[in-house]
This record gives sequence, C-alpha cells and structure tokens, in this order.
Amino acid sequence: MNREKLIKSIRNVPDFPIPGIQFKDETTLFKDPDCLKELSDELYEMYKDKGITKVAGIESRGFIMGPILAARLGAGFVPIRKPGKLPAATVEESYNKEYGTDTIQVHKDAICEDDVVLLHDDLLATGGTMKAAIKLMKRFNPKDVYVNFIIELKDLNGRAIFSEEDKIEAVLEL
Ligand code: PRP
Ligand code: MG
Repeated sequence: MNREKLIKSIRNVPDFPIPGIQFKDETTLFKDPDCLKELSDELYEMYKDKGITKVAGIESRGFIMGPILAARLGAGFVPIRKPGKLPAATVEESYNKEYGTDTIQVHKDAICEDDVVLLHDDLLATGGTMKAAIKLMKRFNPKDVYVNFIIELKDLNGRAIFSEEDKIEAVLEL
C-alpha cells in the first residue's frame, strides 16, 4: 500500500475549528477514488481474520469508513452518536476532548455478548473520545474489542492513555 500517497492526500487546514488547531481534512482523501479504494483495502486487510461481527463507528467522521469496512468484513454497523440523536433506549459515556467536553451514546441493544467489536474513528488526538467508546463497548461484555483509527497524531501521544491490552491500530501516522 502506498501510505505516502494517502498521507499526501490529506489536507492540512490551519486554525480550524479554533486558532492553533491544525485540522487534518480527510475529505481530500475520500474524494479521490484511488485513495478511497486503497484505504478501504488496507482496513479490510488489517481486520479480515479477526472474526469481527460489529463495526461501531463514532459520530460523525467514524461514519464514513465504518460502514464501508463493516460491509467488506461481512459485519454489522453500529452508530455511536452524540446525545439526543438515537431514537431508542441508550447507554452513554462522557469525556474530555481536544477542544471542549462531550458525551457519546449507543443503543442499549446494539451489541451482544457474542459480538467481536471493531471500534472505528477517523482520528486519534488526545484519545478521550475512544477511551469513552471502549468503556461504552465493554459494558456489553462482548467477546473482544478492537480499536482502529485512520490517522494517529503522534505528537499528542494519545496512545498513552490506553492500556496495553487495548488492541489499537492506526492506518496512518502524522
Ligand atoms: C474529532 C475526531 C475524533 C476526535 C478525536 O471528532 O473525529 O472523533 O475528535 O479527538 P480525541 O482523540 O482528542 O478524543 P469531533 O468530536 O471533532 O467531531 P466530528 O467527528 O463530528 O467532526
Ligand atoms: Mg469525531
């Protein structure tokens, strides 16, 4: 896989959404058919042998590759959403993030004990969002939980807040 090509396809937007943030804009990767295919292929290769039954994507940028990956793996897709968006009974976790605080919710019947879950989000920054998502998934007592990001921002050292047994992988390091 040409990781350099994928990295080059990501647009850096300075001072978005607030001054001082260097926003990694993946829309420039997604709009390129070759890059989208390459990213999809790489994600499939990473997880095809893990027995994944549910991909859980985190709103909103985890909703782009999450369902594509789920379909390729023959798994279901579960949305983890911001508060008030899911219509049926939910469970939730709150967390601190790079700029502000937030809460995530998932339907109470989204995951069962037989599931092998792949949590997916686009970006690992401080890790706060994913840490909360792992806690949320573990409440369902699934067989296993894997964690995937498209991009890991190495300078922020988000990995440090996870434990050794969290199975965390990123496609690209920036
Ligand atoms: C961004 C990004 C990750 C999270 C990473 O989402 O898409 O979900 O922040 O930050 P962390 O590792 O410090 O928790 P954001 O909450 O900005 O919302 P969006 O996906 O809806 O754009
Ligand atoms: Mg997000």
